[in-house]
Amino acid sequence: MAKLSVRICGIEFSNPILPAAGPPSKDGAILQAAAKGGAGGLVTKTISVKPAEVPRPCMAEIRGGFLNTELWSELPKEQWIETEYKLARSAGLPVIVGLGYTADQIRELAPLVKPYADALELSTHYVGNDISPIINALRAAKDAVDVPVFMKLSPHPNIQQIAVALEDAGADGLVMINSFGPCLSIDLETGLPLMGSKDGFGWLSGAAIKPLALRCVYEAARVVRIPIFGVGGVSNGRDAAEMFMAGASAVQVCTEAILRGPTVYGKIAKELNAFLDGHGYSSVEEIKGLTIRKMAERGAPKAEGSPSVDMERCSLCGQCEISCPYGAISQDEELHIDQEKCFMCGLCVSRCKRRALSIAQ
Ligand SMILES: Cc1cc2nc3c(=O)[nH]c(=O)nc-3n(C[C@H](O)[C@H](O)[C@H](O)COP(=O)(O)O)c2cc1C
Repeated sequence: MAKLSVRICGIEFSNPILPAAGPPSKDGAILQAAAKGGAGGLVTKTISVKPAEVPRPCMAEIRGGFLNTELWSELPKEQWIETEYKLARSAGLPVIVGLGYTADQIRELAPLVKPYADALELSTHYVGNDISPIINALRAAKDAVDVPVFMKLSPHPNIQQIAVALEDAGADGLVMINSFGPCLSIDLETGLPLMGSKDGFGWLSGAAIKPLALRCVYEAARVVRIPIFGVGGVSNGRDAAEMFMAGASAVQVCTEAILRGPTVYGKIAKELNAFLDGHGYSSVEEIKGLTIRKMAERGAPKAEGSPSVDMERCSLCGQCEISCPYGAISQDEELHIDQEKCFMCGLCVSRCKRRALSIAQ
C-alpha cells in the first residue's frame, strides 16, 4: 500500500483528496459527510461579509462538464461561526476555511474565523490583469492570522507571473483553478440559457477544465516552491495522479463530489493508491512533479515513423481507421499503418481504448 498521507505547511492530511469550496462544502453537515466519505482534510465553502444572493437556476450538468452561477455561501457568517465551523472541526480533520473576496472583506472576516482554521483559502475569483487586488487580499489575511494562507486562483493566462508575485508577497500555498468562464449553454426547448444569472452565463467546471487546470498547476509548480492544491476536473484516482505529476501536493474535488456524493473522496483515494501500487510507486510524493522532471530530460519528440501496433491487444474495432485524418490506417485480419501516409499526429494512440497503439518517446 503506497503512502498517501501528505504534510503541507506543517498540516498532516491522512490522504491528499479534499472537497473544494462549493456545494460539497456548503455547511458543517456535508463536511462531516465528506470526512466519513474518506476525505483527507476539509475545505469550507467561501464565505463573505454578507450572504450571497445566488441567481437560480444555478447549476447544470452539461456534456463533458458542469455550469454554475453560484457565488459564495448563502449562509450568513454568523451561522458559520456559531455552528458550521464547529461541526466541521468535530470531524477531526484539518480544516481550511474559505474566505472572499476583497482586502477589506478579508480584514473583517479573518479574525472571526481564526479559532476554527488550520489554514485559510482566499478565493478572489479575479480575472483582471492588475494583480494588486489579489496581493492586497493576501496581505490583509497575513496581517490577521498566523496560520498558512492559501490563494485560490482563476485560470489566468499569466499564471506564472501571478504565482511568483503571490509567493513573494508571502502566500503559503496556491489553489488552482477556480471554474472557467463566463460560458453559455442553451436549453433548446425554451431557447433560453440554462443559467438564471442576469446574462445567462455560468462558470465551467468538471472534466472539461482538467487540461486547463493541469496546465496552470504545471506552469506554477515550475516557478514557485510553495505547495499547490490542484483542482479542476478530478473525477478519479488517475486524474488525481495526473495532478500530482503536474506538480500538485494535494487535490480538491468539487463537481465530481456534487454528482456522486461525499463517498467520492475515499473512492478517488483508493483508486490513486491502486495506480501507485500498480506502477511500483511507494508514495504519492514520488510522483509529485514527475512531469516537470521528465520534461527537463526529454529531447525533441520524434516526428517521423509511425505508432507501433500490439496485435495481442488490438480488437480490430476500426475506430483508429475511421478517425485517421491521413488515411494511413487499414485493416484485414491485422491492423496496418502506412508509414508513408502516417503524419505521427498521435490521434489513433489516444483513441485506442485497449492501448494497442503506442509511440515510443
Ligand atoms: C456549484 C459550484 C460552486 C462553487 N463555489 C465556489 C466557492 O464558493 N468558492 C470557490 O473558491 N470556488 C467555488 N467553486 C469552484 C470549485 O471550488 C472548483 O475550483 C471548480 O469547480 C473546479 O473544480 P471541479 O472541476 O472539481 O469542480 C464552485 C464550483 C461549483 C461547481
